[in-house]
Amino acid sequence: MKPRCVILGAGGHAKVVLDCLEATQKMEVAAVLDSNPKLWGQEILGIPIRGSDDLLTEIFREGIRLFFVGVGSIRETTVRQKLYEKALTAGLDSFALLHPKAICSPRTQIGKGSLLCAGAVLNVGVVLGQNVIINTGAIVDHDCRIDNHVHIAPGVTLSGSVWVQTGAHVGTGASVRQNIIIGKGAVVGAGAVVVKNVPAGAVVKGIPAR
Ligand SMILES: CC(C)(COP(=O)(O)OP(=O)(O)OC[C@H]1O[C@@H](n2cnc3c(N)ncnc32)[C@H](O)[C@@H]1OP(=O)(O)O)[C@@H](O)C(=O)NCCC(=O)NCCS
Repeated sequence: MKPRCVILGAGGHAKVVLDCLEATQKMEVAAVLDSNPKLWGQEILGIPIRGSDDLLTEIFREGIRLFFVGVGSIRETTVRQKLYEKALTAGLDSFALLHPKAICSPRTQIGKGSLLCAGAVLNVGVVLGQNVIINTGAIVDHDCRIDNHVHIAPGVTLSGSVWVQTGAHVGTGASVRQNIIIGKGAVVGAGAVVVKNVPAGAVVKGIPAR
């Protein structure tokens, strides 16, 4: 029997996670939870949306031990971080999820709760923390370090040895020069070209990003 898991969130990113889980065929999705009451009782890709994340303790009692955060981000990543921590507190654990069509060097480390989407590339020496999203078609080149809860959005290119600190969001299609540090909780706008370090909590955009 496959291990059972619960998905937190029932929006667009949850569909990406469910699709990826189906492609790996390693896990059974027992339920999806979402804080929006209008969704309760409905289905997402054929899986019932049972209720809010307040059901996590009940889910644990039913014997489900694994979860995956299915909420994405368009700037701040705090919602994803809170959900991840809430599920850990409820006693559940997460797992790394790699789409079979992602390209990943065997010389990488991927923390639990992290997602590598279709077409994403992780090159040699990359270290990913927990609850990280490397979204569709993003390139993370050699020796990058990506800390917990970071979202690298679709089509981003990180050159070698970039360090993205906890909870930062790097927007769709952004390019980041080698050896750059993107500080904790910073947001890089879609399409930006980052050539200088980004301070913690800053929002930068444009070419060059400022
Ligand atoms: C940078 C960003 C966070 C700014 O969001 P915001 O504060 O809501 O910005 P607004 O939409 O109010 O725009 C404010 C101004 O910045 C400009 N702007 C917004 N995003 C920009 C970007 N990525 N690059 C250049 N300019 C941008 C707007 O044109 C607007 O300019 P104006 O004042 O001259 O009209 C956001 O636009 C962004 O790029 N987010 C990343 C999205 C993403 O990665 N999605 C992935 C989902 S998987």
